[in-house]
Amino acid sequence: MRHVYSGKVRDVYELDSFDPPRLLMVASDRVSAFDVVMKEKVPGKGQILTAMSCWFMALTSDIVPNHLIEALPTPAGVGEPIDPEFVGRSVVTRRAQMVELECIVRGHLAGSAYKEYSAKGTVHGHSLPAGLKLASPLPEPLFCPSIKNAVGHDENISVARAREIFGAELVDLLARTSLAVFARGSEAAAKAGIVLADTKFEFGYSDGELLLCDEVLTPDSSRFWESEALEPGKEPVQFDKQPLRDYLEGLGWDKAPPPPALPSEVLATLSARYRSVYERITGQSFESWLARAQAASSSGRPGPAD
Ligand SMILES: Nc1ncnc2c1ncn2[C@@H]1O[C@H](COP(=O)(O)OP(=O)(O)OP(=O)(O)O)[C@@H](O)[C@H]1O
Ligand SMILES: [Mg+2]
Repeated sequence: MRHVYSGKVRDVYELDSFDPPRLLMVASDRVSAFDVVMKEKVPGKGQILTAMSCWFMALTSDIVPNHLIEALPTPAGVGEPIDPEFVGRSVVTRRAQMVELECIVRGHLAGSAYKEYSAKGTVHGHSLPAGLKLASPLPEPLFCPSIKNAVGHDENISVARAREIFGAELVDLLARTSLAVFARGSEAAAKAGIVLADTKFEFGYSDGELLLCDEVLTPDSSRFWESEALEPGKEPVQFDKQPLRDYLEGLGWDKAPPPPALPSEVLATLSARYRSVYERITGQSFESWLARAQAASSSGRPGPAD
């Protein structure tokens, strides 16, 4: 395999000798905040993200096909023995031509949407009723596209602007699909007493087919909140990086590299929250995911010579 890309979280390899091309996407335990990757790792994070994304891809495959070929990679699917470091945190996917539009769906008001609403009463240009607070539900979930701007930061744009850039037909298809996947995800989360506040999807084309790619409904791509504690106007109880952001804000760090050192308690809290949202929503234990991944990775591999 050939290393083709490393993002803040994933290391991507192209697998040799497959046509059409396949990728091995490996989710590391790296964690970033304010766009800076921390030096320390969050134990198990990459494996939890992978498990959760695969569960949601299976749950939504009747709505839209996705890029997964093997959620639990086998040596045959990878074309070589699997590095033990990759077990449980890697997937074999179709390599897609990515659509450079981040497909955000928002069901509740948070983050940059809350900032825009507070300043202008709109969210990605949609006018919203007055009186909404932080964490308020929106009248209905909204498709809120964003693009990377010239300096590489995400920029929220209106649906009208997205249609100008990408064409109305594609944008409408992405909007319908994103809203349908979001609704399915919200329903699954709600059964576990969790609110899916917002999320981001990425799509791509392979062989002329539109595929749901990247990661789906993970705590890195979504905001998950405890339903019971939800009270508009108050900071929600989150299952994501909030404890890390709070810790960093408390230090008064200037948000420029190098990042400060993180205490192991902060890392352990993050790890526990990621794991708990996975286990509550899917009803699966993290151990059973690891065991299945281990079994797949050693399937068909010649046993030790004795
Ligand atoms: N099936 C696919 N084919 C090709 N590229 C893909 C596919 N699925 C996801 N990608 C791309 O692979 C990369 C995954 O890496 P990662 O999530 O770490 O980085 P990122 O999202 O680009 O950047 P960052 O998370 O650092 O902001 C993304 O650029 C994503 O768009
Ligand atoms: Mg990403």
